[in-house]
Amino acid sequence: MRKKPSPALKAEPVHLPVLLKETVEWLSPPPDGVVLDLTVGMGGHSQELLKHLPRGRLVGLDQDVDALQHAGRALKKDPRVSLFKANFADLLWVLRDLSITEVDSVLMDIGVSSLQLDSPERGFSFQREGPLDMRMDTTTGHTAAWVLNTYPEERLSKILYEYGEEPKARALARAIVKAREQKPLETTRELADLALRVCGRPKPRKGESSRHPATRLFQAVRIEVNRELEVLQKGLKTAVGFLKPGGRIAVITFHSLEDRIVKQYFKTESTDCLCPPDIPQCICGHKASLRTLTGKPVPASEEEMEQNPRARSAKLRAAEKLPPTANS
Ligand SMILES: C[S@@+](CC[C@H](N)C(=O)[O-])C[C@H]1O[C@@H](n2cnc3c(N)ncnc32)[C@H](O)[C@@H]1O
Repeated sequence: MRKKPSPALKAEPVHLPVLLKETVEWLSPPPDGVVLDLTVGMGGHSQELLKHLPRGRLVGLDQDVDALQHAGRALKKDPRVSLFKANFADLLWVLRDLSITEVDSVLMDIGVSSLQLDSPERGFSFQREGPLDMRMDTTTGHTAAWVLNTYPEERLSKILYEYGEEPKARALARAIVKAREQKPLETTRELADLALRVCGRPKPRKGESSRHPATRLFQAVRIEVNRELEVLQKGLKTAVGFLKPGGRIAVITFHSLEDRIVKQYFKTESTDCLCPPDIPQCICGHKASLRTLTGKPVPASEEEMEQNPRARSAKLRAAEKLPPTANS
């Protein structure tokens, strides 16, 4: 008789960390360094970084309890690793608790994980029927259903336009409000069907498959639910504040809104004076704290894109902390 597989042998969800080699190369942590993985996910990047930290330490954060459980299985027994359930916007408190005052490397690999996308009950994917949740941290905050069923039409339209870059934002917001007057929106399928009705399926571009009209809508709602752009700004600022001179930060993003924030932040922090050009003498006193290492964002290789379609939209930017100047 065939034996049932034991729970310990149950297949783990497959997760391919993106831009793995590139991330480690740009971060190049010292062997005894302190590394922060602010989006530990399933621990793929952390595991690789640990190979370069024989005498170092890795602090991993994720706001998703499920992700931490998976990461924990891979990393928990390693004495160099400490894992925390936290939003990276709250990094300051985590590091204070650990009495860590400076770190060598910071990694942020933002966005949703394959674990989240592939779990229908999390509501991240319009390809899987599930409740409209979309919270990365399921212990707090408002769900996607709450956003869709309670926000005024104007606010919905603004979110869809700004976070989804959705040209039919107004029509979609109007349709959402009309639909919820009949019955609250509850499932991913209902929302995906609504997007299809309002926007229709666009013609595919040459050599590409047609993008489902719900793609932008789901992105926009997810960004709102998780306050993704706001926490990214806060997380970047705090993380860079803890970097040692010569320490490095690498950020992987999956859409242009996030990439723009990282690009702009690195640019501002790599600039000495931020006064308007018509002011003859600097009055702002701003001093550069970073040196941008990647002029253009680093994309995944053709080979990686072939193996992992998620890598197609990934972009990596890296920067290095400058020593403090006398008057900074
Ligand atoms: C793309 S996955 C990271 C995958 C990971 N690098 C790996 O190799 O397994 C992104 C992870 O970041 C987490 N995340 C996103 N925003 C976060 C935030 N503001 N604070 C903490 N974790 C966050 C998500 O919950 C998700 O698990």
